[in-house]
This record gives sequence, structure tokens and C-alpha cells, in this order.
Amino acid sequence: MKEQSQTQKICPKCNGSGWESAGPGKGVRRCSCMESSRIERMLAEARIPKRYENCDLESYQPTDPSQKTAKLFVDRFINKYPEVDIGLLFLGPCGVGKTHLAVALLKRIITEKGDSCLFYDFRDLLREIQSSWNSVSKTSELEILRPVLDAKVLVLDELGANKPTDWVRDTVTHIINCRYNDKKLTIITSNFLDTAPNHHEETLTDRIGARLRSRLHEMCKDIEIKGEDFRVVGKSAKSRFGTEIRDFGAKRK
Ligand SMILES: Nc1ncnc2c1ncn2[C@@H]1O[C@H](COP(=O)(O)OP(=O)(O)O)[C@@H](O)[C@H]1O
Ligand SMILES: [Mg+2]
Ligand SMILES: [Zn+2]
Repeated sequence: MKEQSQTQKICPKCNGSGWESAGPGKGVRRCSCMESSRIERMLAEARIPKRYENCDLESYQPTDPSQKTAKLFVDRFINKYPEVDIGLLFLGPCGVGKTHLAVALLKRIITEKGDSCLFYDFRDLLREIQSSWNSVSKTSELEILRPVLDAKVLVLDELGANKPTDWVRDTVTHIINCRYNDKKLTIITSNFLDTAPNHHEETLTDRIGARLRSRLHEMCKDIEIKGEDFRVVGKSAKSRFGTEIRDFGAKRK
């Protein structure tokens, strides 16, 4: 942190002290540069994946009525925040912009409302909790969980993507219940729907259990997003290389 501030330009208003004069005889007050560095720090700590860093609401161009509705809900959520009492649950197939919208929302809450937010891919979260049990690593499960439970707004991306073992269900139920009891907002995305498109496919309830599914009904507004995979249909607009942008399966950050 120290190294970073040495290379940064020193604020001329406060000479880097973080305090500026409030006027003659009025003492000092926090300099505005402190607020912007607080926001920068919160953005850096929100764990937004690199490939989604530039996602915002303006760049989300709906290609289906359901996408237009989803964008509207995100916009409304941001405008009403913090007077909002339920989160959002984006349901839909791959590539319709669920993660894009979730990141856009998170960034706006941080920059416009100044509240702490956190992004977690569901699989990464489980992996980190699991590895915290490793006796060699010094981090405890609580150290991982604390920020997840504390964040004013949490994005849990790709809920249900992991094999639904009892441990997975218990862990996610614990997190969701804690946040629910604390009246914290959770934004969730999932590729699993309530009614599977083909009867042999699994539903969200199959993946996370009926109890957790019903809890999510209470704490999130369901937003189903339909459409084609943007990574395929939007390739001409998106590709800088003139080649097809494909999802290479493994999530790279
Ligand atoms: N309607 C849209 N307008 C602009 N970009 C989009 C749109 N939908 C998706 N994208 C982009 O396509 C890619 C895939 O979207 P993503 O949010 O990862 O989909 P999902 O999470 O639903 O699988 C991302 O790079 C995202 O920014
Ligand atoms: Mg996604
Ligand atoms: Zn300053």
C-alpha cells in the first residue's frame, strides 16, 4: 500500500494527508481524495473477474424482450438502493449476459452508493472454503466466509454449477441463511431453470434442494433471461481479432 501511494500523485488539496481545511477557524475535514481512493479500494477488493471488468449497463444491448426487462430491473435496483429489500436471481442459458448484468450492478453500487460489494463464482467459493480446511494453510473457514457474509451486496455467480453433494448444499444454505437473517442483499445467477428445457435435464431445485430454492423465492426476485449465446451471435461486434470468440470451458480470470 505504501509503495503504491509513493508512486501515486500527491493530492494538491491536502498534500496527501487526507485532511483539508474546512475554512478559517473551522478546523479540518476529510479531503475528497480519500473518498475516491476508498472507492478504488472497494472496486479492487470486490473480486470482479478481469474479463468482466468493463461490463456496465450502457454496454448491455438487449436482443430479446426478457433481456430488456432484466436490464430495467437492474437499473431500478440501483436507483432504489439502499431502499431495496430483495436481491435478484438471474436464470437463463449460457451467454445471455447474467454475469455481465450482475457485475454492472455491483460496480454501480460501489461507485455511486459507496457500499462494499463482493463477487464470487460459486465454484471458487466452495473451493476456497474446502481448501481452508487444509491444515497446512493457515486461513480458517471463517476468514473466507467473513467478507462473504459481511458484504452489503454479494454476487454469487453460477449457483448450482457444482455437483450437489450434501456438503455443498449445507454450505450454501448456511451462507444464504446468514445473509437472509442479516437482511443483506444477494444477487445470484444460475444456468439452471425451475423447469428444465428437456425433461431429462436437471432443474435448479435438483441442484440446490427444495428448501434453499424456496428460501431464494423469499429473498430474490426471479428474472429469467432468454436468448442466444452472445459469445456466438455477438462475435462480429465483440471480436477484435476477426475470429470467433468461444467459451473455452475453463474459467480464466
Ligand atoms: N446483450 C448484451 N450486450 C452486450 N454484451 C453482452 C450481452 N450479453 C452478453 N454480453 C457479453 O457476452 C459475454 C457473455 O455474457 P455473460 O454475462 O458471461 O453471460 P452468462 O453469464 O449469462 O453466461 C460477456 O462478455 C458479456 O459482456
Ligand atoms: Mg455467467
Ligand atoms: Zn486530498
